[in-house]
Amino acid sequence: MPSRVAEWRAASVVKDTWKRPLRDLRISVVDRCNFRCPYCMPAEIYGSDYAFLSRQQWLTPGELRRIAGLFMQLGVNKLRLTGGEPLLRRDIAEIVATLSDLPGLKDLALTTNGTLLAGYVSELKAAGLRRITVSLDSLDPIVFREMSGERGELETVLEGIEAAQNVGLDPIKVNVVVQKGKSDRTILDLLEYFRGTSVIVRFIEYMDVGTLNGWRLDEVVPSKTVLDLISARWPLRSLEPNYRGEVARRYAFEDGKGEIGFISSVSEPFCGDCHRARLSADGTMYTCLFATEGINLREPLRAGASDADLVGLLQNIWRQRGDRYSELRERKMNEKKESRIEMYRMGG
Ligand code: GTP
Ligand code: 5AD
Ligand code: SF4
Ligand code: SF4
Repeated sequence: MPSRVAEWRAASVVKDTWKRPLRDLRISVVDRCNFRCPYCMPAEIYGSDYAFLSRQQWLTPGELRRIAGLFMQLGVNKLRLTGGEPLLRRDIAEIVATLSDLPGLKDLALTTNGTLLAGYVSELKAAGLRRITVSLDSLDPIVFREMSGERGELETVLEGIEAAQNVGLDPIKVNVVVQKGKSDRTILDLLEYFRGTSVIVRFIEYMDVGTLNGWRLDEVVPSKTVLDLISARWPLRSLEPNYRGEVARRYAFEDGKGEIGFISSVSEPFCGDCHRARLSADGTMYTCLFATEGINLREPLRAGASDADLVGLLQNIWRQRGDRYSELRERKMNEKKESRIEMYRMGG
């Protein structure tokens, strides 16, 4: 017999206009970052005088727990903390601890650029973090510096990954944005380093997200090209998805030396199963990575709205959702382009 809670939860699961459920909430906890990756936060725009959100605008750990709990009433069972750089929030371990014991939560992960990771892993693990994903585009020091906007120290990031392995945050994933003429030249070296460890490297097609990176289609390297390059060196076999709607296509090295993945939003859009909502650090909800507007949840939250009111609001937003930008890219590419929200703000 299903429990009353399970029955009630199943009844309240909400679907959008394409019958997609809501399963995954990605929370940007801060809009600041200590990197200036040119495809995300170009240094010439995000200088020292740039007005990021103020602390008062950030949702507190308690507010994050309340909002996440409400999303969970509608079907969310996976939370990912992102930024900006989430480890720039000094209360990040408190945030993790506050979220990790939400009843029914199946997965709690965090995406970081890894520079501050070594100092935080023990605390994060103890607070209940289950998994970590590190953004790391190249192991070539010159390409790495270029793609992090001349900010990061490669060795520190690698130490962070090792520290995360040592405390048992497993599996660790590494996200590589593949940009033509840059990180595409260092793919095999990077795999050589991680092959044979439990780290899962995923190659992400460079996307036209936000308004600032001057994206051009000819800078995108299709995943098929990367797959061919890798399989010529190390034969691969495809793996079944871990769950419906998984973003990455999975492959295993034939020789048993681990797993890799491809995230191909440009060449093979995956909107059909997209069950992700995003929340920015100031409590604005977005229903697509390419959204041009969001819904302010912080205002009703701080004005004393009841749980029922807020669940009703979220339900209405999701029921009206029709987003499938990547599938319509060619048609939508220039539509309201200048109003798109930057990825570091809405959460990757
Ligand atoms: P797992 O939880 O490990 O399965 O990973 P995930 O699917 O949550 O992937 P992750 O958060 O590491 O996402 C990897 C990257 O894929 C993101 O940083 C984005 O660049 C891209 N991505 C994730 N979700 C979407 C999406 O809904 N649309 C598009 N276009 N890209 C996405
Ligand atoms: N295209 C593809 N991936 C991107 N990311 C940030 N901007 C882009 C883009 N334009 C990646 C980061 C990180 C994750 C949060 O999203 O490198 O791995
Ligand atoms: Fe920072 Fe990640 Fe954006 Fe790079 S991609 S600037 S690490 S938020
Ligand atoms: Fe989801 Fe929008 Fe990405 Fe499509 S483009 S997968 S709808 S976030």
